[in-house]
Amino acid sequence: MIEPGKYLNPEGIVHWKSPANIALIKYWGKYPEQLPMNPSLSFVLNNSVISIKIEYVIDKGKPMQLLGFQLNEKENPAFAEKINHYLDRLSQYFLFLKHAQLKISSKSTFPHSAGIASSAAAFSALALCICSMDEQIHDKKTPALEFFKKASFMARLGSGSACRSVFDGMVVWGFTNFMPGSADEYAIKLPGSMVHKTFSNIQDTILIASSETKKVSSSAGHALMHNHPYRENRKEQAFDNLKKITHALGEGNWKMFGEIIENEALSLHSLMMSSNPGYILMRPNTISMAEKIRSFRKDTGLNVYFTLDAGPNIHLIYPATQKEEVQNFVESELVPLCENQKWIDDQMGNGPEKI
Ligand code: PMV
Repeated sequence: MIEPGKYLNPEGIVHWKSPANIALIKYWGKYPEQLPMNPSLSFVLNNSVISIKIEYVIDKGKPMQLLGFQLNEKENPAFAEKINHYLDRLSQYFLFLKHAQLKISSKSTFPHSAGIASSAAAFSALALCICSMDEQIHDKKTPALEFFKKASFMARLGSGSACRSVFDGMVVWGFTNFMPGSADEYAIKLPGSMVHKTFSNIQDTILIASSETKKVSSSAGHALMHNHPYRENRKEQAFDNLKKITHALGEGNWKMFGEIIENEALSLHSLMMSSNPGYILMRPNTISMAEKIRSFRKDTGLNVYFTLDAGPNIHLIYPATQKEEVQNFVESELVPLCENQKWIDDQMGNGPEKI
């Protein structure tokens, strides 16, 4: 895909920071090469971010070598192995990687053991670094649109949902015939004109029901979708929900938007429970919180909805204009149900940043 050409700058440093994202329409089930069974929609967070710095030398006389990998200033051999595997995979697109000598250091602002998946942030930051290396090494400048599309494609090969972390705003990954430019290979940003300003400052308060490592990984969960009895219906549901949520986003319709995101969250967990073997990632306090949120909404008429990742923690989604009322409710009713009263205040972020 990318020609090696001459290595004009065979030595250098690249540095990016990139955020986690929360899916509102869930990607669940995949085909080989990390291609999604259905389209998904998400937005990036502001505070859950990973920065990655790569120092490199391209030496045609040597095979690729990861000379060190540090996470928060400590060597991390387990993660180094994953990165090695990923870089090896990317070397079919970036031939210079076959001879790269790399030192990688990363810093995570993820709250310690909060049970939030960091792989989307990590792989998107890595992909952005490799795309920047390509520019530096060949002394070229790629137009922004093409650069981020390529970074999204590369991030997908590390972790599917990572391809959605390279854009700000509302992001769609997966081909649908009603969305121009959508693709299974990379994500696209929904044009600002398609999103009402009521969604521009969306809040995500993360309530930690449990920070334990989950018993069934997302990879295993995706695999269970292949023989899932509801697979075809799920695909149809996701396409349908994506179509509806784009209308809700355009019209500024919080009620319709909220009903769809809760339906997606509970559908995702229903698919896990009805897999073979089935499993449960929600905890009793997840359910208690979900019920309290629904009662609070009914009593106050406020726009406050929840979503769930592949884990037990509740993401409370609401507009910034209601922050005060919602935070009072969070502190009095929900925080007592959290593990060690732990919760994280986050919101929609501005996407990745080159450092
Ligand atoms: O990208 P993965 O393989 O970690 O899968 C992520 C799956 C969900 O978080 C449950 C949904 C999503 O779209 O992010």
